[in-house]
Amino acid sequence: MEDEAGVHARGVTRAFGPVQALRGLDLTVPYGQVTALVGANGAGKTTLLLILATLLAPDAGEIRVAGHDLRTRPEAARTALGWMPDTFGAYDQLTVAEYLQFFADAYGLTPPEGAARTAELLTRVHLLEMARQPVHVLSRGQKQRLGLARALVHRPKVLLLDEPASGLDPRSRVELRDLLRSLAAEGVAVLISSHILSELEEIADRVVLVERGATAGEHEIATLMAEARGLWRVRALEEEPLAEALDVRRVPYRRQETGGLDIGPLTEREAAVLLGELVGAGARIFSYAPVGGALESVYLAMTEDRT
Ligand SMILES: Nc1ncnc2c1ncn2[C@@H]1O[C@H](COP(=O)(O)OP(=O)(O)O)[C@@H](O)[C@H]1O
Ligand SMILES: [Mg+2]
Repeated sequence: MEDEAGVHARGVTRAFGPVQALRGLDLTVPYGQVTALVGANGAGKTTLLLILATLLAPDAGEIRVAGHDLRTRPEAARTALGWMPDTFGAYDQLTVAEYLQFFADAYGLTPPEGAARTAELLTRVHLLEMARQPVHVLSRGQKQRLGLARALVHRPKVLLLDEPASGLDPRSRVELRDLLRSLAAEGVAVLISSHILSELEEIADRVVLVERGATAGEHEIATLMAEARGLWRVRALEEEPLAEALDVRRVPYRRQETGGLDIGPLTEREAAVLLGELVGAGARIFSYAPVGGALESVYLAMTEDRT
């Protein structure tokens, strides 16, 4: 059965002895988009991903991956999904090319098909020049990219990645973003977990918040960003006319030791309207930008609301 989404999960529960890791989690991962699963350490992200990857059985819940019910058609689901765990397996004796060839064999590709697919994937993840190097010489970012290539060997329609961006340097993170965006553009349903929201701002289209094993919210990133109320750091050639203009409008602000004022909290729209007014009032503004990641402030605001 072809599903409307790459992953459809409802009411997923799982306990480890006395620990209730998942307590009725709902999740939809559409094709052609990158969905982020965001939650603190221990929220249940890895448990859910292992269940979706058919590596761990849920206690209850209805789950379809690429349209296949995990209870009745786990093999079909496994063929349709690619899985990248948060830790890299030990295949250190193999070269980079041998490593991918090994998984191509495991997925039933013929040796020529496997060789072609290996070359194609190494090109895609920018590791072609490392093909003959042993896996253990790779940097962390390179290992992540090899792990991604491995997850893609059999052209999965659903891609599951557990904390792939954690510990990556900025350049590797940009490369990861570009790779995931291009896969989504090809129609793959991508699910990526993280406990650091700001890692995902530019990678994901949607964010699903997980708290203590349950879905705490499901949002479009673009909508979140537009609705988010955050602080905006403003710098002007002279601070006093700026501060006066803010006082007149009763906009809260705080002076920063490093120069500039943090104003708000304001939405993007409110910030844009205010900027026009401030400039109109004679403030000579040369910098006006959200403080920190916009997503980070949304997340903090949401978790504050509940306590
Ligand atoms: N194999 C396991 N045995 C016992 N408890 C586990 C096991 N795996 C996960 N847990 C517990 O389940 C909860 C969720 O863990 P996990 O899914 O790893 O969270 P996350 O990936 O969001 O950090 C935690 O309380 C964790 O300690
Ligand atoms: Mg985890």
